[in-house]
Amino acid sequence: MLIFRDTSRVQNHLHNLKNIGKTIGFVPTMGSLHDGHISLVKQSLIQTDITVVSIFINPTQFNNIDDLKTYPSDIDKDLKLLSSISDKIIVFNPDPDELYSGGIRLEDFNFNGLDKYMEGEFRKHHFSGVATVVNKLFSFIEADFAYFGEKDFQQLRIIENLIKEKKFKIKLIRCETIRSKDGLALSSRNNKLDFSSKKIATNLFKALNFAKEKIDEISIDEIEQKIWDNLSNFKQIKLEYFVIADEQNLKPIKTIKSSKNRAFIAAYVSGVRLIDNIKLY
Ligand code: PAF
Repeated sequence: MLIFRDTSRVQNHLHNLKNIGKTIGFVPTMGSLHDGHISLVKQSLIQTDITVVSIFINPTQFNNIDDLKTYPSDIDKDLKLLSSISDKIIVFNPDPDELYSGGIRLEDFNFNGLDKYMEGEFRKHHFSGVATVVNKLFSFIEADFAYFGEKDFQQLRIIENLIKEKKFKIKLIRCETIRSKDGLALSSRNNKLDFSSKKIATNLFKALNFAKEKIDEISIDEIEQKIWDNLSNFKQIKLEYFVIADEQNLKPIKTIKSSKNRAFIAAYVSGVRLIDNIKLY
């Protein structure tokens, strides 16, 4: 498996592959790979000739220095895992100085309002950080397809918007959220939870399913109230938001119920911030 740490080298290598007609899939990650990432990689392996996996903990998307410092990382394990899957994978694992050669700073983007709510409201500059790094990666990884998980649905919409604004010739492929048997959405942050906190964390998925069950029976206000009441019974859970929103423009909705609605949740479970969402219809 080829591993690149240098931007110009990976760029040249991929350019040569494109010139001989190879298609390229791209899976951007921050490492600490789990089955959710692997499902993206496998989808890319099915659809393209070469799959590039970037592993880079992007400092600009963390709004909390402790969160950045404690973000799980195990590069040796990640590389071993990827090399066991296919020899058609190329890894790009740069140093911060390589990607941010002009200094670690945020760029400005027009998100057309997609960053106003939910993660955008609670994690200041998070999406500018995500877009800054993805914009850099997309500009020299000449991918045909990029694979993003629906677990980070707001991020996925922000990247779809970025592709359109910057006219990248990359097609974003939406991939469904991968869950453990009890419903917990897979996330690198789950590594920070002990066994009992993981069990408690399944209540977030239960809350989303409650909304799905009740959406045609009671009002959105009532659904929200019941979810706040129920989750407040768990001392380990600190709910940050529960929102039903339009999946295109991500605006929270209170009345119009349609097939375009999704329920979104973010909460601290035993001090670890988790997010999840599901389609309601
Ligand atoms: O979803 C993630 O892991 C990150 O936000 C991404 C897209 C790799 C950008 O750093």
